Amino acid sequence: MKVTVVGAGNVGATCAYAIAEKEIVNEVILLDIKEGLAEGKALDMWQTAPVRLYDTRLKGVSNDYEASAGSEVIVITSGIPRKPGMSRDDLISINAGIVQSVTESIVRYSPDAKIIVVSNPLDAMCYRAYLTAGLPSCRVFGMAGILDTARYIAFLADELEISPRDIQAMLLGGHGDTMVPLPRYTTVSGIPVSELINENRLNEIIDRTRGGGGEIVGLMGTSAWYAPGNAAAQMVEAIIKDQRRVVPVCAYLNGEYGMSDIYLGVPVILGKNGVEKIIELKLNVSEQALLARSAAAVRSTLDVIVP
Ligand code: LAC
Repeated sequence: MKVTVVGAGNVGATCAYAIAEKEIVNEVILLDIKEGLAEGKALDMWQTAPVRLYDTRLKGVSNDYEASAGSEVIVITSGIPRKPGMSRDDLISINAGIVQSVTESIVRYSPDAKIIVVSNPLDAMCYRAYLTAGLPSCRVFGMAGILDTARYIAFLADELEISPRDIQAMLLGGHGDTMVPLPRYTTVSGIPVSELINENRLNEIIDRTRGGGGEIVGLMGTSAWYAPGNAAAQMVEAIIKDQRRVVPVCAYLNGEYGMSDIYLGVPVILGKNGVEKIIELKLNVSEQALLARSAAAVRSTLDVIVP
């Protein structure tokens, strides 16, 4: 079984490496437009195999989509990343063109693949890939919620001085400053988080989560890759192993949450067919309002893609 990661930048390379280490497929293809980049990184990763002890073969190619033929899952990370002062939406016109041409090429060689979009602005890029791919929406979706939830959980783990593995959380909405972390659906080994952290402090943590990507761009001058790459690899694993994991995914809504024809972060069951089911939470009035605000922000970016 084969998985292809398109884009051998920091996120794509981290994702390919994480997939290789999981030993869930025979082969990972890393593809990039820049001559030699994917070849070099894939070779470096394959030379890591004797040290880290995995069998997954890694192959890097320059723009050779034929090498990706028959992939079970394709991860699209292509596009330019943010620089300080840029929002994810500032990337839209350049990255929409890139995602469109990548999607056309991958679908030609892997018509049965599940496509995970990681390029930003994420919700709009999912929509672009969906329009281009002509595949059922359950097979085209995006990685954002696992990353945003991971950031939220990391901040909570710091605050409570506990292991992140004991924190469960859910988050809705777009992958931007309007994302909607849900304190009502956040627990610490089953204990509602509201019993452990007061409301003001929790709101500060939620605000930090909303700006979590930007915080890292501000520190390093470019966007994050360890958490994004590993989050995408976790989605690949859920699909390849048909785990039916319940995770937040940027999915196409067709009436769910009262919305249609939009990609937005929602809880789903992720399995071998991609988005097996969208889980609809019974939101209260303020959660609904926050989700509506986030959806409006995403819609304004879709207008750039489909004027
Ligand atoms: C981030 C980018 C990858 O949130 O969107 O770090």
